[in-house]
Amino acid sequence: MQIITVAQNKGGSGKSTVSKLVSTGLAKRGKRVLVLDLDSQCNLSSRFIQMDISNSAHRSKVPPLHPEVDEILLEDPEWSGRSSTADFFYGRVMYPYGTTVENLDLLPGSGDELPQVELVRSTEVVSKVHEQLRVGLRNEAFAEAYDVIVIDTDPSKGPLPTSALRAATHLIIPTGVDPMELEGLHGMLSMWKAENNRRSADDVLELIGILPNKIRNSVSTQKAALEDLQRGSLTGPLMFPGKLSLRSAFSDSDHEAIRFASVLDLPASDPARQEAQSVVDHVVMKLEGSRHV
Ligand SMILES: Nc1ncnc2c1ncn2[C@@H]1O[C@H](COP(=O)(O)OP(=O)(O)OP(=O)(O)O)[C@@H](O)[C@H]1O
Ligand SMILES: [Mg+2]
Repeated sequence: MQIITVAQNKGGSGKSTVSKLVSTGLAKRGKRVLVLDLDSQCNLSSRFIQMDISNSAHRSKVPPLHPEVDEILLEDPEWSGRSSTADFFYGRVMYPYGTTVENLDLLPGSGDELPQVELVRSTEVVSKVHEQLRVGLRNEAFAEAYDVIVIDTDPSKGPLPTSALRAATHLIIPTGVDPMELEGLHGMLSMWKAENNRRSADDVLELIGILPNKIRNSVSTQKAALEDLQRGSLTGPLMFPGKLSLRSAFSDSDHEAIRFASVLDLPASDPARQEAQSVVDHVVMKLEGSRHV
């Protein structure tokens, strides 16, 4: 089983957009995919299913009742009827939700429970958060049911994104090219290297690539910044061959009101579809050539 984490601590860089695109694209190629939303904002979850709003003061997004709740309760009468990625950290059994995309399941986030997961003593953060996702995903049931797991993370360097890096076999870093975003990119590259320093040679975290996103092609400073990344001795070899430009098709397909649309369903001649397809093709190529199977 291959596990792709999508991370960049700078907010709004396109993590959820890319998580949706890559998980949908791999499922359309016939891979059995499970996508995990590890962000308490639950933006990715809302792009696949209708989330509920909790009764808490924050009125957070929480998973809806599972559509197969009655059948599952016959087998597991103790279950609450809802599953979220917070369950990994509490050792609970999880039941993924189907989506409208064939071969693609979702474990949604929980605006109520994910913030609680990070509220642990610093002496316990490694065992209770950092290591917990890796351990939970080793469960044979996941390996039997899925070929690829895609993990969307929140915009921080906190315990939850750290757990997603630790669990992953592969990493994608989406980034804009404005100075703040480039700072975030370099921070992520440092986290990637630090993660690999603690791993053995046969377990490296493979970087699928740095994916330039929201590129405004007509803005000369953006073009220049992208070229710097592509030519840079440090970043150049790590880049996706393509990019995602700033296009309304990408933001439209993320809109909750048209939750089920994918840019991959646009006509083959559409430039947004072509950019998206090239991203998926590169991911497929990297997964096929990987030491992690
Ligand atoms: N290439 C693009 N063109 C146009 N809009 C985009 C593009 N990529 C992302 N967006 C939009 O930008 C916003 C932020 O994108 P997204 O939610 O994917 O970022 P994120 O990194 O997940 O954010 P956060 O850090 O808050 O989790 C969304 O409204 C999304 O629809
Ligand atoms: Mg997001």
